[in-house]
Amino acid sequence: MTGTTPEGARGEAEAAGWVRGMFGRIAPRYDFANHLLSFEMDRLWRAWTVRRVRPILERPEARVLDICCGTGDLVLALEKGRVGGGAAVLGSDFCHPMLVGAGAKVAERQAKARLFESDAMRLPLADGSLDLLTVAFGFRNLANYEAGLREMHRVLRAGGMAAILEFSQPPNAAFAALYNFYSRRVLPWIGGMVTGSRDAYTYLPESVRKFPSAEELAAAMRLAGFAEVCFERWTGGIVALHLGRR
Ligand SMILES: C[S@@+](CC[C@H](N)C(=O)[O-])C[C@H]1O[C@@H](n2cnc3c(N)ncnc32)[C@H](O)[C@@H]1O
Repeated sequence: MTGTTPEGARGEAEAAGWVRGMFGRIAPRYDFANHLLSFEMDRLWRAWTVRRVRPILERPEARVLDICCGTGDLVLALEKGRVGGGAAVLGSDFCHPMLVGAGAKVAERQAKARLFESDAMRLPLADGSLDLLTVAFGFRNLANYEAGLREMHRVLRAGGMAAILEFSQPPNAAFAALYNFYSRRVLPWIGGMVTGSRDAYTYLPESVRKFPSAEELAAAMRLAGFAEVCFERWTGGIVALHLGRR
């Protein structure tokens, strides 16, 4: 495991810079493209993630952070998942235009979530300050997965939980072939048309292909110090949710 390697980027700083710039370019059309290209499944995947972590969300003293929050869909789903007040929800991202989108949605829904601009590899939080850290479709874009996991572990308090929702490779060969055809041939074409940035939607299947398997990610989480690590595959293994406890 290392981290994302966009074509042409040399080293971690360049990879992170490329990722930030790419999301900055597609930010205004990100939500539309996301829902369209996933056939709205992205909403379900976030809702299922919220269901898995709901016991933490319902604790009024709990502090929750969604890193790589993008335009804020998981932040809003986490807030919605709290019954009768519940946890304080924060969201962070290092791409300003994506956070602007999140801010507009938070304001429109009169949500209480607070957003801040930050690199997920260097969070401005004290050790052990969170009860739950979530990340949806952002972890794959980090320039160094091991360092990212260590940072997640650092900011969680003992007993706190990390939830990583990310694309994965379907284990069934026939379904994987069908999915690969869609993600490598159809998705870049539609994504390019919708956002005007074909490179972003060529990067997406490439980064999924290079991303560690669900088993490898679970092993890396254990190495970073997480306990009770488990994962579940959804939608034929297109995505996987990994959970781990500090
Ligand atoms: C595919 S989007 C996912 C957004 C959102 N979580 C969702 O579910 O739609 C990935 C996000 O991760 C952010 N990101 C990638 N690397 C990051 C880093 N090192 N620090 C903070 N944000 C990062 C990008 O700016 C982008 O907004």
